[in-house]
Amino acid sequence: MKIAIIGGTGNIGKGFAVRWGSKHEIIVGSRDKQRAENKALEYANLLKDRNMDALITGNTNLGAASEAEVIILAVRYSKVESIIEQLKPVLDRKIIVSVVVPMEKNQCTILPDSDSIQIEATSREDFKADYFCYMTPKLGSAAEEIDAMLPEGIELVSAFHNVPAAKLANLDLDLDYDIGVCGNYMRSKEIVFDLVRDIPNMRPIDVGPLETSSMIEALTPLVINIAIRNQKKDIGIKFVD
Ligand SMILES: NC(=O)c1ccc[n+]([C@@H]2O[C@H](COP(=O)([O-])OP(=O)(O)OC[C@H]3O[C@@H](n4cnc5c(N)ncnc54)[C@H](OP(=O)(O)O)[C@@H]3O)[C@@H](O)[C@H]2O)c1
Repeated sequence: MKIAIIGGTGNIGKGFAVRWGSKHEIIVGSRDKQRAENKALEYANLLKDRNMDALITGNTNLGAASEAEVIILAVRYSKVESIIEQLKPVLDRKIIVSVVVPMEKNQCTILPDSDSIQIEATSREDFKADYFCYMTPKLGSAAEEIDAMLPEGIELVSAFHNVPAAKLANLDLDLDYDIGVCGNYMRSKEIVFDLVRDIPNMRPIDVGPLETSSMIEALTPLVINIAIRNQKKDIGIKFVD
């Protein structure tokens, strides 16, 4: 399968490229084609050093998206709108995967568009530790916002929000994580389930339609806060029966 990683030069993009780069054709996307090509080479070399096949190339975000069947949106929430606008002409019949988590550091908002309720860090007993909060977008989640930006008929799947980038990129680690997957179409969800299974030990979990995405997106600041305050490094999520 041809997979474009938009913002593939970034933290989580690297992880996807090296985890899938021996099984799929990966096109690392960037605003800068040269940066994408350099990163693609770097990722491919990581695989080759392990005697693994590496089908990784680089291109502009638009070039990557136009070549691919599946497009992973791996940019920050604030950058999504302009990127979608740019990619719109080439999205027809492609599956888009959002890994996007809208969150802020040391700031929590209760209602969309309300004034943020900011607690002065120095007024708190545990002021030394940063914390993160989910910033609920107007439509309920990043996935629903992105879905509303997409041309009609494009299938969006929301997944991989809770995977720590550094661990995803570390091929020495088997990640025994569950990956919550949300989407409105079973066909595209099944494709993402398979992409999850392509990463050793990961298990896809069907969370529900896109409307449920806020719950899985919001787990990311939760696990980061737990990691910060409990001297843990890069926590993932596993649901146990
Ligand atoms: N980091 C994690 O552990 C993690 C885990 C799960 C989900 N996520 C989600 O994955 C997304 C990416 O996170 P990240 O940590 O990988 O981000 P990042 O490294 O900060 O950025 C990813 C890429 O975005 C591109 N970018 C930066 N500014 C841009 C702009 N103004 N317009 C367009 N592209 C721009 C950059 O690529 P170029 O400069 O090459 O264009 C950059 O390499 C976020 O939505 C995050 O919530 C992250």
